[in-house]
Amino acid sequence: MAESLFDTSAMEKPRILILGGTTEARELASRLAGDTRYNTVISLAGRTADPRPQPVEARVGGFGGAEGLADFLIAEKVALVVDATHPFAARISHNAAAAAMAAHVRLLALRRPEWQAQAGDNWTDVGSVAEAVTALGEMPRRVFLAIGRQEAFHFEAAPQHIYVIRSVDPVTPPLKLPDATAILATGPFAETDEIDLLKAHRIDAIVAKNSGGAATYGKIAAARKLGITVIMVERRKPADVPSVSDCNAALQRIDHWLSPA
Ligand SMILES: NC(=O)c1ccc[n+]([C@@H]2O[C@H](COP(=O)([O-])OP(=O)(O)OC[C@H]3O[C@@H](n4cnc5c(N)ncnc54)[C@H](OP(=O)(O)O)[C@@H]3O)[C@@H](O)[C@H]2O)c1
Repeated sequence: MAESLFDTSAMEKPRILILGGTTEARELASRLAGDTRYNTVISLAGRTADPRPQPVEARVGGFGGAEGLADFLIAEKVALVVDATHPFAARISHNAAAAAMAAHVRLLALRRPEWQAQAGDNWTDVGSVAEAVTALGEMPRRVFLAIGRQEAFHFEAAPQHIYVIRSVDPVTPPLKLPDATAILATGPFAETDEIDLLKAHRIDAIVAKNSGGAATYGKIAAARKLGITVIMVERRKPADVPSVSDCNAALQRIDHWLSPA
């Protein structure tokens, strides 16, 4: 076997693989980093050009589908996979479920709860980013796109709108849109800053994914205060696996499953 990513001086410790790319994954990794009972590695897709340092050993890049991930779990003798990927990263979650089953490894999903519309919110729920394009309508609008860069290309189908597009890394290839302003920024984003941004660009519609969590909720709260429409892309139904909604619950479940009584 090639050199292991796990700390092989601690062979007897249960090995935990965190599938990451989210704030929760990082938080869980930092809580497990100091826990000498476990041997933890975090896995990142490698989408971000300059990722933040991780609190535990990190591996970067795809596994080669569900089969590649199952091979990895067996080769590295992983005892538990925590799928702490983003709620809209559907493929890796599906692969994790299939690989864990094939490799007979326990799987726990760490999924933050969805945001719920409150009084004063003006949301239009849609099932996909492509549907969000249609939901904007024919009349030109001033649109804030906060959906990340991977699916921004869908909006080339609606060049009549004026766009402000925020992402961590630049959208590539550049969008073929006549009026689009790119903002490169990494959350968390405070509500007051979001209000300033929305006002400065005279935004009248936001397209967002229902990611949940506090780090990107500022724009939703800001939209409520300013009476701005939110086209909200809903989550797809998640894989049917044991799941928890925060780090504390994940740690409890990990202890219950892996720690000797
Ligand atoms: N989608 C979003 O809106 C969003 C937002 C914020 C952060 N993220 C994070 O960005 C990453 C990529 O998102 P995506 O939407 O492209 O995911 P995706 O469509 O579910 O995954 C595409 C492929 O990327 C690889 N991959 C994804 N997550 C990985 C991980 N943690 N470690 C190793 N390989 C991984 C897998 O490749 P192989 O099949 O070769 O294994 C997977 O099949 C995820 O880890 C996610 O947590 C996504």
